[in-house]
Formats: sequence, C-alpha cells, structure tokens
Amino acid sequence: MNKDYLELTVPGVRGLRPYQPGKPISELEREYGVSGIIKLASNENPTGPGLLVREAIERALVDLARYPDANGFALKGALAERHGVMPECITLGNGSNDVLVLLAEAFLQPGVEAVHSQFAFAVYPLAIQAAGATARVAPALSWDESQPLGHDVDAMAGLVGEATRLVFIANPNNPTGTWLDSESLENFVSSMPDSTLVVVDEAYSEYVEDPAYPDCASWLDRYPNLVVTRTFSKAFGLAGLRIGYAISNPGIANILNRLRQPFNVNLLAQEAAVAALADKDYLASSVSTNNTERARLADALVKLKLRQAPSVGNFVLVDFGRPATDIYEALLRKSVIVRPVDNYGLPDCLRISIGTPDENTRFITALTEVLAESGD
Ligand SMILES: Cc1ncc(COP(=O)(O)O)c(C=O)c1O
Repeated sequence: MNKDYLELTVPGVRGLRPYQPGKPISELEREYGVSGIIKLASNENPTGPGLLVREAIERALVDLARYPDANGFALKGALAERHGVMPECITLGNGSNDVLVLLAEAFLQPGVEAVHSQFAFAVYPLAIQAAGATARVAPALSWDESQPLGHDVDAMAGLVGEATRLVFIANPNNPTGTWLDSESLENFVSSMPDSTLVVVDEAYSEYVEDPAYPDCASWLDRYPNLVVTRTFSKAFGLAGLRIGYAISNPGIANILNRLRQPFNVNLLAQEAAVAALADKDYLASSVSTNNTERARLADALVKLKLRQAPSVGNFVLVDFGRPATDIYEALLRKSVIVRPVDNYGLPDCLRISIGTPDENTRFITALTEVLAESGD
C-alpha cells in the first residue's frame, strides 16, 4: 500500500481544496468537440496586450538567458511615480495572488485569525487555511442592499479581535462586482488596531468610475497597517505574464521582500508592465470598452428578467433563481465558457466576464436560446 502523504503535510495543507480556475478553451474543445469557443470565465482582458507592451516584450527577448532584476528597479520606479509613494513601499509579485499569499505566509500561523467577507475572492480562504490560521467569515450584505452580496464592514469589524492579524477586503470584490466607498472603507480602516493589517485588494480598481471610490494607496501615510494590492492582469491585459504588486509602508514591504522568491517576477513581465504603465491610451480604451459593454450586458440581462449584482469590474454575477449547472453546461455546448460559482456558496449564480463586443453579443444570443430551450 502506498503511503498517504497527506498525513505528512502541515495541518493547513491537509484540508485544502484546489483553486478552481475557469475552464480552458482547449479543455472544452477536447471534451465537447466544439469549436469557435469564447471564454468569459476568468475576468481576463479581451482586448489583448497593447502595442507598446508587445514591442517591449520583443525587445526583451534577447535577454531571456539572464535572470530578471531581482529588485525590479525600473518597474518599482514607475509604480512609485504612479501612486505617489517611495519605491521602498512596493513589493512585486507573480500576479497579485503571489503577494496575497506572501501576506498570509508572513503574518498568519495556527492560533491567529484572519477576517474576510462571505463571497469574497476565493484565494483569501485558501491562503488563510494553507497558513494554518483560522478564517472568521462575516456574513455578506443581502440581495436587497445597494451592494448585493457585498462586504458588510460593520459585520467584519465585529469579528476583529486581539488574534486578528489580517483582514482581506476586495474592492471591488470578485465574484460580486460590489464595492465600498471612501467613507465606509476609511471608517473601517481607521477603526482597526495596529496589530491587524488591512489588505485592500484593488485588482479591478482601474475600471471603477464612481468618484466615491477610494484610491487607498493615498491613505498609507495615515494608516501604517494598510496594504493595497494591485494587478496588471485585468485592465492592463497581462494576465498571462503574472504580475501584480503590493503597496504598503516600507517596513511591511521589507518583510514581504525577505519572504518572496528572489526572482518571483520574470523579465518579460517586468518589461511589459513598465510599457503598460506608459501606454495610457491602451488603458483608457480597455476601460472604456469594458464599461460600455458591461452596461450593454446589464441591459440584456434586465430584458431577460435575470437578477444581477451591479458590477463595477469586468464581470457580472447573474442569479438564475435555481441551480445554474444546466445553464452552464448548455452554454458550453454552444461554445461559451462562463464561470460557475458554487464554490463560493452561490449555486444559483454564474459569473460572466465582459468580452469583446462580438463575444458579448454571442453570449447574449446563446443565453437567450438556452433559457428559451429550458422553458425559463
Ligand atoms: C479580487 C481579485 N484579487 C486578485 C486576483 C488575482 O489576480 P492576479 O494574481 O492575476 O493578479 C483576482 C483574480 O481574478 C481577483 O479577482
């Protein structure tokens, strides 16, 4: 009999379930034999990388035999300028997922706690559990609130105690698309004890146009326990390169920089990110295409009489009022991949990423047909 190696793992690892990513296009081709597939399942940027990024990658290819700059000098400089902070405040990550996990590794262990909201981004509970800490999960707001299924900061504050080392807040949150305004978030942050780090995950921030939406990096001087995470995977269109970062006070950045792998961000990602920051036109156009299309999709869902959360990200959460698995599968048969969210405890919902105008039209047509065929 083979040994059960799970028994040898550290306690946090034993109960882990793998993260469920969106179904890859190649897998659907293999399994269903369909072609012409569109994937609206992973909140990717459908416009692809910009021209300046592609040129930067092309130029960097000759240096691929060299290790990347372990300290990310050029990129940290550009990010420091963007956020009005010192380069020492930045920690680069292999995607923002990397820095979220680094925070958990650095500050969590058995016997301490981390707080997040129900329906918050799935990586938080995974990172907390892997570190062996205890997750305290605050009930989310109800569907009737103006931010349906969003974070209830009062409920979250109520769970924070002496043992709380981290609070994770996704602003906007995935998969709900909900967000917190400046006033409520700052009230929350200012009420936190020094011994609790507040991690505000701003992965989708570039898409948000509401003037009440906060830019938390500008609060760092006031709150030394605040950490903001950002990514190049969404509005900047670099998900495949894996690059994100944290902005924090230099003391926290120093801790994360000790812990991270020396070359956690590859050469092409660093060069591409510098170019992406310089390409203001690309960012503006990717955001404006997304937001126009998100509004069009929202209208189409209203016409189909489906309940949705009012998203400010590049995706929308749709409630079918009954288990949504057959709708997900019927869409797959029509070559459309969306994202089930039963792993979030939302079996009646599907999350739809905003695609190109053509992709969204195809999705709306496919969904209309599926609902008609299922008698909904
Ligand atoms: C809220 C949120 N935070 C962080 C991430 C991680 O993104 P990445 O690791 O690509 O930067 C995602 C990815 O979907 C997300 O939805």
